[in-house]
Amino acid sequence: MLTYIKNISSLCTLNKGNAFYRRGLEMQNVDEIRNAAIIFDTNILFVGTTQEANAYIEKNQIKDIKVIDAAGKTIIPGFCDSHSHIVFAGNRSEEFARRLRGATYKEIAEEGGGILTTMRATRQSTVDELVEYGKKLALSALRNGTTSLEIKSGYSLTVDGELNQLRAIKKLKEILPLNIKSTFLGAHDFPPEYKNNREKYVELIINEMLPKIAEENLADYCDAFIDEGYYTIEEAEKIFTAAKKYNIKIRTHSDEMANVEAAGFSADIGAASADHLLFISDKSIEKIAKSSTVATMMPTTAYFIRMPYAPARKIIDNGCITALASDCNPGSSFTENMQLVLSLAVINMKMTAEEALTAATINGAKAMDLSEKTGSLMVGKQADFIIADIDRYTDLFYHFGINHVDEVWIKGKCAAKNNTDFNF
Ligand code: NIG
Ligand code: FE
Repeated sequence: MLTYIKNISSLCTLNKGNAFYRRGLEMQNVDEIRNAAIIFDTNILFVGTTQEANAYIEKNQIKDIKVIDAAGKTIIPGFCDSHSHIVFAGNRSEEFARRLRGATYKEIAEEGGGILTTMRATRQSTVDELVEYGKKLALSALRNGTTSLEIKSGYSLTVDGELNQLRAIKKLKEILPLNIKSTFLGAHDFPPEYKNNREKYVELIINEMLPKIAEENLADYCDAFIDEGYYTIEEAEKIFTAAKKYNIKIRTHSDEMANVEAAGFSADIGAASADHLLFISDKSIEKIAKSSTVATMMPTTAYFIRMPYAPARKIIDNGCITALASDCNPGSSFTENMQLVLSLAVINMKMTAEEALTAATINGAKAMDLSEKTGSLMVGKQADFIIADIDRYTDLFYHFGINHVDEVWIKGKCAAKNNTDFNF
């Protein structure tokens, strides 16, 4: 049966212009319709004003239709969070407390903590346990408005462990309503066993991990943490060349701790996205701007590890396709809430509300190669959207620090309903 949501106070379609992504100034317009309506089954059949929708229903003699009145509410596309590490085990709140007492993220990592702390816990977990932990965070992301989500491995750094993390992600794809993409991040760090033999670990990734991952069809993307103290461009290039042979696409962690020109390299090799970019150089910005690689920024990471924010203004003003994501992980950004990501983006990275919304929806979808299906409310795309209890989309940013999401719909079905208080 069709569903018709009418009298929507504010609906942002993100429809005009390029259907699949926006660059630079194009990110200034979210194509808002007031007193709007949307009609859909799994996919969107109509979007416009309520008046136009009534005419559409009459003209097409539609009888069997469920009507929902959304007066006073706002509808926006569901958030497309293109960078997360939500499948892991363990807890690093002790390390976090140490950071609050003055230790830095880098110091903890150099002592063998950080990613390696999570690695030790993840290695000891079964696939079922990893599914259980990941599911909890994915559902929390959903309740906060996320409808599409990328999830990475990278916390086991052994052949079996990486495969298990990816199997857990595959299971999440099957059991959850969200649109999920999986990424193999065997090159997240060097495991202690290979600390003094980096080359051997790169060989293990290429000769053992990738073939098995390809055989079980476990990864949409291959990622590497290209940064000072982590993977070099040369090491990443070897891994990516191998991944491409299996038709696994590329995305990168680039220039998060220092500039190593990883973002420019990502554009050169045709990566779907280059992520983090805290220390991106002007040269790399120029390369990304000329490419279709998405520049993805994660302000919650800079916030959580007290680092400078990525230069969003420069990145957008130079014409890059720009996305926002959560980077949800147990060490550098433990939040799955995209509304918080948006809040930090507009206040601390000086993005406009329209740019932030574009970056978290259509451009996030583009970063996951999902923008033909989702990311904007366009006729023919999936009905993936948020009903927010606000009068206009700008209230999402204005009234901050709370969950504005009433309902989340994916492929035309209500997947989450919040605000279940008891009618006080
Ligand atoms: O995206 N940069 C590398 N990986 C994560 C951090 C992972 C961790 O601390 O567990 C990130 O920031
Ligand atoms: Fe990350």
